[in-house]
Amino acid sequence: MRTETILARLGACLERDTNALAFPIYQTATFRHRELERGDGYDYSRTSNPTRTALEEGMAALEGGARALAFASGMAAITAVLHLFRSGDHLVVTEDLYGGTYRVLTEVFRHLGLAASFVPTRDVEAVERAVRPDTRALFVETPSNPLLGVSDLRRLGRLAKKRGLMLIVDNTFLTPLRQRPLELGADLVVYSATKYLAGHNDVVAGMVVAATPQLGERLAFVQNATGGILGPQDCWLVLRGMKTLALRMERHEANARRVAAFLDVHPAVARLYFPALPDYPGKEVHDRQATGPGGVITFQLRDPLWVPRFIDRLRLVIFAESLGGTETLITYPATQTHRDVPVAERRRLGITDDLLRLSVGLEDPEDVLEDLEQALEALEEALEAVR
Ligand SMILES: Cc1ncc(COP(=O)(O)O)c(C=O)c1O
Repeated sequence: MRTETILARLGACLERDTNALAFPIYQTATFRHRELERGDGYDYSRTSNPTRTALEEGMAALEGGARALAFASGMAAITAVLHLFRSGDHLVVTEDLYGGTYRVLTEVFRHLGLAASFVPTRDVEAVERAVRPDTRALFVETPSNPLLGVSDLRRLGRLAKKRGLMLIVDNTFLTPLRQRPLELGADLVVYSATKYLAGHNDVVAGMVVAATPQLGERLAFVQNATGGILGPQDCWLVLRGMKTLALRMERHEANARRVAAFLDVHPAVARLYFPALPDYPGKEVHDRQATGPGGVITFQLRDPLWVPRFIDRLRLVIFAESLGGTETLITYPATQTHRDVPVAERRRLGITDDLLRLSVGLEDPEDVLEDLEQALEALEEALEAVR
């Protein structure tokens, strides 16, 4: 089946007892065994649950992977992946990635002996230089959060293969509809399914897709051993949300293009980050490996002091920490998503105090543009000085 068909029919007609079309929520902790030594495929819902299986099998089919696993959050998914490594191992990681991934690596796994070097993975030579004898994997986010930096997955995949490393890609910003890391050489793809996959700002969830059954098996072992599973109700919400992923991505991107065109020429905006911009750094690589820009735009206002006034004046756009849902959200990375990155490091990376991240939703774009315009007008006096 083609991708959009897989999506539209996720979980449909799989239930055999009643022929329910939509997949049921199996709200049970455990399953009766008919005899000693004989269950009917399910034992206990930490190990597996039919609603979770429907989601996981749909996701594996969508991504073209051997196995997918659903977790309680994107961070639970990433944590399970990091548990594949041991004390004394080393990872090379995208330097400007989601602050929570930075935090779990530096504040949790570092204390367990797993080392990480944060490097600009858009520079493959820099990645190669960072590889050490104890390096076991590359962990890459592209486009990265929040600066939408582009890393060349095909070249990184080749490097990983040559050096015997695992390539792990966080594909949250683009989904398998726009970027297919397994086909570019990745071994594992991780998602915050909270974002575009579920898509409605109403559930926190994570997914991992493994390229091979062996890796899938190792992860399933970690998932069952550590227990960060997604519950049946939330699995159902993700399954339900994903049915419209293709339509939503089209609209997110169309709206984002309109908003980016508006912000790009606005005098209050000093710099815009959006992979569809004609002269965007890494655009050539992005266009080779992805089929769309996604719906996130990051921009710098000309003055960090304008940020509170701008946010305060927004009426439709919601100041909140997330992305990929139906509502347009604006996030301030310095105090929200990237608060745990030390200030000096944040500044070095360009996650500055004038930086805002916009997740363009599914509203009529005119309403979003009008709201941004009126809020930017509040900066008018200050703008006059710039002009
Ligand atoms: C790129 C990326 N990866 C992972 C996560 C973590 O996901 P969750 O919030 O579902 O735990 C996020 C959350 O914002 C993210 O943006």
